[in-house]
Amino acid sequence: MKIYFVGAGPGDKELITLKGHNVLSKADIVIYAGSLVNPELLDYCKEGCEVHNSAYMDLNEIIDVMERGVKEEKLVVRLQTGDFSIYGSVREQIEELDKRNIKYELIPGVSSFLGAASALNVEYTVPEISQSVIITRMEGRTPVPEKESLRSFAAHKTSMAIFLSVHSIADVVKELTEGGYEETTPCVVIYKATWPDQKVVKGKLFDIAEKVNEANIKKTALILVGDFLGDDYNYSKLYDKEFVHEYRNSSLDKERS
Ligand SMILES: C[S@@+](CC[C@H](N)C(=O)[O-])C[C@H]1O[C@@H](n2cnc3c(N)ncnc32)[C@H](O)[C@@H]1O
Repeated sequence: MKIYFVGAGPGDKELITLKGHNVLSKADIVIYAGSLVNPELLDYCKEGCEVHNSAYMDLNEIIDVMERGVKEEKLVVRLQTGDFSIYGSVREQIEELDKRNIKYELIPGVSSFLGAASALNVEYTVPEISQSVIITRMEGRTPVPEKESLRSFAAHKTSMAIFLSVHSIADVVKELTEGGYEETTPCVVIYKATWPDQKVVKGKLFDIAEKVNEANIKKTALILVGDFLGDDYNYSKLYDKEFVHEYRNSSLDKERS
C-alpha cells in the first residue's frame, strides 16, 4: 500500500482532478487540511471512511496515522488545498515517510493562484506586458530568504501572486511601491477564490489597503499585482494569421498555394 497526496484544488469541489477524485472516493482514511480544504470534498468519500482534520495534528501525528493505515492495508489519502507544491509542507511529510520506508504518490491539484486567474478572467502572461509570474509571500512567522524580499521582486514590475500576506496588506503595498511598482499599478485581492462566498476587491496600489480593510479580509486571500490586470494588452503571435509555425502556414502562403 502507499499514501496518496491529493491536491484538492482552490475551493470549488469540482476543481479536484479526476485522478484525485477517483482515489478520494476509494479511500479508507482521509487526512484533510481542515483550515483550507472545502469540507464538501469529503462528500466524495465512501461511507465509513475515517476522516482526520490535520488542523489539529502535528507532523508526527499525521505520519503516525499514515503508517497505521498502511500497516492495516488501508487506502490513505492526504488531501491538501490547491496544489501541495505551493506552500504545502509536502516535503517534510515525504521525508518522514521515506524514513519509515512508506511509499507514496503525489496527485497534483489546481493551485489557488490559478483558480483566482480564472475567477477574474485574466492571464498572468500577457504578450509584451508581462511574461513572468512571481509567486511569493511576505515574511511572517515563517521567514523569507533575504534575497527574496517583496521590495527586490517589485523592481521587475511583472505579474505577482502574493500568498499568506493579506493581513499585512499595508506593509505589502509599502514594499511593492518602494521597490518599483507605480502607485497606479492595478491590484486585486481575492478572498476564497472559487468558493461560493468568494470576494473580489479591485483597486490600485494606492487604494487597495483601504478597500481590503473595508471588506474586512484578513486571511485566505491572494494579492495579485501587475499590469496584467490593466487595460493594455497585445494579441499573441501564436494565433496571428501572419505568424508561421510548424503547424500552420501564413495566410499569404495559403493564398499562394
Ligand atoms: C498554506 S497556503 C496553501 C496554498 C495552496 N497550496 C495553493 O496551491 O493554493 C494558504 C494560502 O493560500 C492562499 N489561498 C489558498 N486557497 C485560496 C483561495 N481559494 N483563494 C484565495 N487564496 C487562497 C491564501 O493566501 C492562503 O493564506
